Amino acid sequence: MKTVKSLPLLAMLLGVIIVAAAISTISVEGRKHHVKKIKPKHRRHSKNTPTGSPAPAPYPSTHEGVFNIISFGAKGDGVSDDSKALVRAWKAACEVVGGKVEIPAGKQFLVKAVTLQGPCKEETVVQIEGTLVAPEKIGSWPKSSLFQWLNIKWVSHVTIQGSGTLNGRGSNWWNLDTYQIQTRNKYIPPMKPTALRFYAAHNVTVRDISIVNSPLCHLKFDDSDGVKVNNITISSPENSPNTDGIHLQNTRNVEIQHSNIACGDDCVSIQTGSSNVHIHHINCGPGHGISIGGLGKDKSVACVSDIIVEDISIQNTLAGVRIKTWQGGLGVVKNLTFSNIQVTDVKVPIVIDQYYCDKSKCKNQTRAVSISGIKYNNIVGSFTVQPVRIACSNNVPCMDVDLMDIRLRPSGGIRGLQTHQQQQALCWNSYGKTQGPLVPSSIGYCLRKSNIGGYYSQKVSRSYDKICPS
Ligand SMILES: *[C@@H]1O[C@H](CO)[C@@H](O)[C@H](O)[C@H]1NC(C)=O
Ligand SMILES: *[C@@H]1O[C@H](CO)[C@@H](O)[C@H](O)[C@H]1NC(C)=O
Ligand SMILES: *[C@@H]1O[C@H](CO)[C@@H](O)[C@H](O)[C@H]1NC(C)=O
Ligand SMILES: *[C@@H]1O[C@H](CO)[C@@H](O)[C@H](O)[C@H]1NC(C)=O
Repeated sequence: MKTVKSLPLLAMLLGVIIVAAAISTISVEGRKHHVKKIKPKHRRHSKNTPTGSPAPAPYPSTHEGVFNIISFGAKGDGVSDDSKALVRAWKAACEVVGGKVEIPAGKQFLVKAVTLQGPCKEETVVQIEGTLVAPEKIGSWPKSSLFQWLNIKWVSHVTIQGSGTLNGRGSNWWNLDTYQIQTRNKYIPPMKPTALRFYAAHNVTVRDISIVNSPLCHLKFDDSDGVKVNNITISSPENSPNTDGIHLQNTRNVEIQHSNIACGDDCVSIQTGSSNVHIHHINCGPGHGISIGGLGKDKSVACVSDIIVEDISIQNTLAGVRIKTWQGGLGVVKNLTFSNIQVTDVKVPIVIDQYYCDKSKCKNQTRAVSISGIKYNNIVGSFTVQPVRIACSNNVPCMDVDLMDIRLRPSGGIRGLQTHQQQQALCWNSYGKTQGPLVPSSIGYCLRKSNIGGYYSQKVSRSYDKICPS
């Protein structure tokens, strides 16, 4: 593969032309049996000619549907704009079954905000071995493309893989005030870009790569179905604001596993419209932990169900596993399981907060997103502020909350905590059952016991079906 790749371009083109010429002379039946990769090239060639763009050369596919971005004019010097080369290589790979975009090792490719769009022939792969870097200057991002850096949309069966890195170079975005003073620029961008975003994607895989220093969220799935994330590394500083690791929005059937996430916000954030999500073998921290929500902001409807978070290690974070909803929202959060979670120096390991508020005070409201069927099993380790804080709505209690085998000790010993209250589990308007061992023992009488649970679950299920249609 390597030797073919390094053939002079001219010789390659010549080869392709000869093969293409040969094909045009053989019968239609014969063509069906012929080398698969040639066919789409031929089709694409004739499709493109009438658009008036300069006579397109046949694709410089180096080897069996592999499209190296260097062959499409990428410089890989970290300075030249290689956006067009990436988009062209993507289009070429997209046109063939099993097409692969290759971003070679040992080079740095500067890429501006781009969209890699489908639909493609099935099984497209983006093989990232080198580094893609985003523009460093905020001014070089067009105002119209601040939503994300790399946008992959309308695709199915796409895999992003390799030992390479996506570097969002977000530090100017994190320190906008300083940056503006330094550059004497008063322009305030209306939003900050996510690094890698999938939109309306089906059956996509992201594996092995690193995504670092995003201006905002690192990896986001919107309106997608069938997502696998495996063996990736996400990294940005603890004090980089709003740099979520992985963000799921309106996305179903997700598995996130065997990955390391260190960032300035939630390691994984699950938003409305997400269901059947399995997160396991994740190392999280620093950051804000694994979060469901905030849901129900501005009286919106939220629907989240069927989430399993297990075999997770969390250290040095704001929360461990957390559900947060705004007052005034509507909808249902149900059937969530958090088990086998090891926490180290986590401020509050178990959190349900139905009074979530990003200001100093939010108005009290009667409506709330309902929360039920939440299991915590085997959550063990150390906290720095409080072991458990379950603060449910005054009007809509949390139902069927199970706390089983929870053992949480203050990091610096009891004396490390400021008040006696901090050593205790806090629960407000939440019903469910507990099962030992429980440390501190206050967890044992934290939840209220109730026989209206079954009745309530049915009610919740009915309202889920009504408000949150599947
Ligand atoms: C995604 O994969 C699942 C399971 O393999 C399959 O049932 C489904 O049809 C696929 N969806 C698309 C849009 O390809
Ligand atoms: C995980 O990704 C790295 C590259 O980042 C690779 O070297 C390693 O083999 C991968 N591990 C597994 C189990 O796939
Ligand atoms: C709860 O969620 C899990 C994981 O998605 C699922 O397997 C299970 O069937 C769900 N249980 C109910 C009662 O819906
Ligand atoms: C909202 O309700 C809480 C709990 O009942 C109470 O402590 C708080 O003072 C109320 N806040 C406002 C702004 O009314």
